[in-house]
Amino acid sequence: MKLLTKHHIGMLELKNRVVMAPMCMYVATEDGLSTPFHIVHYSTRAYGGVGLIIQEATAVEARGRISGNDLGIWSDEHIHGLKQIVDGVHLADSKIGIQLAHAGRKCLAKAEKILAPSEIAFNAKYPVPSEMSKDDIHTVIKAFGEAAVRAKKAGYDLVEIHGAHGYLINQFLSPLVNQREDEYGIDKSRFLLEVITEVKKYWTGPISLRLSAEEYAEEGNHILDTLKLVKKLHGLVDVINVSSGGVVPVSFNVFPGYQLEFAKAVKEQGFTVIGGGLLTQVEEMETAILDGSVDFVFLGRELLRNPYFVMNTAKSQDQMDWIIKPYERGYL
Ligand SMILES: Cc1cc2nc3c(=O)[nH]c(=O)nc-3n(C[C@H](O)[C@H](O)[C@H](O)COP(=O)(O)O)c2cc1C
Repeated sequence: MKLLTKHHIGMLELKNRVVMAPMCMYVATEDGLSTPFHIVHYSTRAYGGVGLIIQEATAVEARGRISGNDLGIWSDEHIHGLKQIVDGVHLADSKIGIQLAHAGRKCLAKAEKILAPSEIAFNAKYPVPSEMSKDDIHTVIKAFGEAAVRAKKAGYDLVEIHGAHGYLINQFLSPLVNQREDEYGIDKSRFLLEVITEVKKYWTGPISLRLSAEEYAEEGNHILDTLKLVKKLHGLVDVINVSSGGVVPVSFNVFPGYQLEFAKAVKEQGFTVIGGGLLTQVEEMETAILDGSVDFVFLGRELLRNPYFVMNTAKSQDQMDWIIKPYERGYL
């Protein structure tokens, strides 16, 4: 089965096509430091056989956290704990990327100033953000670069830039949130492109970009806008992790594989693609790879329930090589 075959992202070889989706656990200390939970949580999925783990949104600035208990990478003090997560995953023969994130107007952590491209709150439960000055913009771009330096020191295999779900980069991309009249508003991709350029100054490994390919709001970005954007990304990123929504508070219809049509459209532009959404069945994942929608499937909630998903799938296919030695008795 294709799901259990090797593939690569840039120079990074992955042992199968199963990617653990980034998922905030909200259990870091108030200083953004990791805890033993993170080491166990990620290495368990690694022992379970996942090819690539993408660590949860990790804030490049303290005011870029979603909550007061997000993981952080805004200080050198974070490196030691992050390295422990990385080492745990490597020991279990898997690879790990880190999702570098800034919440922008979706920050619910304590912060003196909440940043956004324009002064528009997400909804009544969120603070009204300050419109970012040019200095603010340059400070945040620099913070992404500094985070990349720390990610390298911690030993990650890949960096993912969080450009999805209505967080800061996505806020700049969206006409629903970015109403600036300067160069960052006229060219809504400018902030993202400058972040990528800054990260690439310090990070030579593979880069993933997570995007919300569809905003589910009439005046927002749709898949055709996303395809225009990705045309600018050739040679800048190695893989696009295709998601959707989160920019404005609207509800939309979800079902297994609801984002795969967007993933396929991005893949047809010549990109390596990670895609998914509500996938739980091996057949759905296999079809998504075979019909050319994705190169890799991401699994989020399924891996929260079932960390040994890959080993269990391998067992059902009689591919016993995937069962780690200490657990063989459980799979006889
Ligand atoms: C608890 C939880 C936390 C999440 N945190 C993040 C995150 O940090 N970054 C991100 O890009 N997506 C995040 N997501 C979205 C997931 O990565 C994924 O796209 C979503 O859950 C759909 O996939 P699934 O149906 O396989 O769970 C989160 C989802 C869940 C359930």
